Amino acid sequence: MSRPDPRDPRDPGVPDGLERFLREQDARPALRFLTCGSVDDGKSTLIGRLLYDSKLLFDDQLRALEADSKATGSGEGGLDFALLVDGLQAEREQSITIDVAYRYFATAKRRFIVADTPGHEQYTRNMATGASTASLAVLLVDARRGVQTQTRRHSYIVRWLGIRHVVLAVNKMDLVEFSAERFDEIVRDYDEIAGQLRFDSMQCIPVSGRHGDNVFDRSAKTPWYAGPPLMQYLEEIDVAPDPAHQPLRLPVQWVSRPNQDFRGFCGRIASGAVRRGDSVAVFPSGRATKVARVVTAAGDAESAASGQSVTLTLEDEIDISRGDVIAAGEAPIVADQLAAHILWMDEEPLMPGRQYLMKCGASATRASISTLKYRIDVDTLFHEAAKTLALNEIGVVTLSTEKPVVCDPYERSRECGGFILIDLFSNRTVGAGTIDFALRRATNVRWQKIEVDKASRARLKKQKPVVLWFTGLSGAGKSTIADALERQLTGLGQHTYLLDGDNLRHGLNRDLGFTPEARVENVRRVAEVARLFVDAGLIVLAALISPFRSEREMARHLFETGEFIEIYVSTPIAECERRDAKGLYKKARAGAIPNFTGISSPYEPPESPEFTLDTTEIGAVAAAEEIVHFLRRNGYI
Ligand code: ADX
Repeated sequence: MSRPDPRDPRDPGVPDGLERFLREQDARPALRFLTCGSVDDGKSTLIGRLLYDSKLLFDDQLRALEADSKATGSGEGGLDFALLVDGLQAEREQSITIDVAYRYFATAKRRFIVADTPGHEQYTRNMATGASTASLAVLLVDARRGVQTQTRRHSYIVRWLGIRHVVLAVNKMDLVEFSAERFDEIVRDYDEIAGQLRFDSMQCIPVSGRHGDNVFDRSAKTPWYAGPPLMQYLEEIDVAPDPAHQPLRLPVQWVSRPNQDFRGFCGRIASGAVRRGDSVAVFPSGRATKVARVVTAAGDAESAASGQSVTLTLEDEIDISRGDVIAAGEAPIVADQLAAHILWMDEEPLMPGRQYLMKCGASATRASISTLKYRIDVDTLFHEAAKTLALNEIGVVTLSTEKPVVCDPYERSRECGGFILIDLFSNRTVGAGTIDFALRRATNVRWQKIEVDKASRARLKKQKPVVLWFTGLSGAGKSTIADALERQLTGLGQHTYLLDGDNLRHGLNRDLGFTPEARVENVRRVAEVARLFVDAGLIVLAALISPFRSEREMARHLFETGEFIEIYVSTPIAECERRDAKGLYKKARAGAIPNFTGISSPYEPPESPEFTLDTTEIGAVAAAEEIVHFLRRNGYI
């Protein structure tokens, strides 16, 4: 290592010692990049080489590396740089990288944050995690194997996630005798992909991670290559526009009210800058005002810029809550119907129609995929018709949100254009997406005010409208109890309507089958109809299997407190099957009915239903009487 070591305060190359060095270190701009490639492309070795050559290794790490290289033997006598990077024991044993790892290193010119992401295709979600904050991607290919399907997939994903600069590192050049022809061939192949994706810059570099050729220093073995070595390229490239020059976006994290006189809006500036006296507007309302004070951790300031956490006070009293966005310049999108790209990240496939929690900026709202327009085959970039997305698949969708979302198109703002979807029950992050544009549809449809309301309709009927939602297996007794209950209630002069799953499938839902997605839609429609009937002042009985917790919760969520009563008809499957009134279990066991609940399709029992009724223990009439009692006791009738 002949170059002066910028990290060593005793090094003559850094005369003023440690303190000044550390100050300079912080002032140097950071380049965030990610590396991707398939398992054998030598990615970890290349990053290890970058760390080693930038002298980020200290003596003890070096000794450990030497010892490890001997132990695993994969370094063939030399140092195995991949061991530095593949820190996890499990990874070493399997010789694959399984998660995103961030590394920091620096040269005299620049600081670097590198996200090392796995190459296995099932780990696309990890790769997306690394890509969402990077401005450049180093894609590795093995010189012997050339451009792979994987390379195309990674290129698509990084471009989708807003990376506009790529480096194609053609690695293991030593294994193809540093052949210029081989390199050119790979470059030609890759040009085709890059052309389609329209990157702002693309550089192909022949390297050998193992031997260091064209990593830090220009290699004598590639005299035919006129471009810079990898490190020099990374040090010099000018990447993405600085978010400080974009319009102001401050998603409000919380409202600070320490006393009557102070009302501040706190959050991290996602993009742009704000100055005292600036004109701003608050979204979703769009109300305009001016910034009175900019308060930072160090006290009152004249201004603040993207990345900083601030508290703003405004000149006018405006009603602002968490999730609202203080903005200037071009107005953000405010919409409840959005076109978006989604990467599915969960083992359980996407269910169009199901509600998920959508987090975007500081806001959270329920949202569902109202249309899955198509799936993108990331290997060919073809659009395919699809009913669902499986793990690691990407699709283009229409999102329908419960509350209007304030955001920007991802192309314009990575800070305000991305979102995640969370499962309402498991709390798992199931998807990540990018906003394409707002669909104006919903904003043109107003809610028409009607004079006669639910309360007056209910008064006429002398009852409190409610939906009694029966759930349980086929043959559990839902319809039978509901039928008995409706007879008793009409006998008492109440106004009811029974929505029976089987019956509705002859009309309203005749287009729906029994796939999980069809059931989601089935329940959604019945819940919406039940809501109309509750609005009409009726006591609604809904009897359908409704096998999924998420959709029953979605149904409950449509109603006011006390308007939704979940009745779990818990008759065990063995008993339903023994009765088999419709002969369906027999057919299902024989394999003649696919997706049969309890046999080849799941049933998720309610966690806290208002009622649980097992018809092996109670007859339908008695069960109905119990519910009538309940309705009386609670003032519904
Ligand atoms: S739900 O799951 O979408 O709520 P729903 O209650 O409307 O189902 O319809 C269930 C009825 O359809 C059952 O009672 C049964 O008579 C019939 N059926 C036909 N095929 C199936 C199936 N694959 N799974 C369950 N029920 C089925």
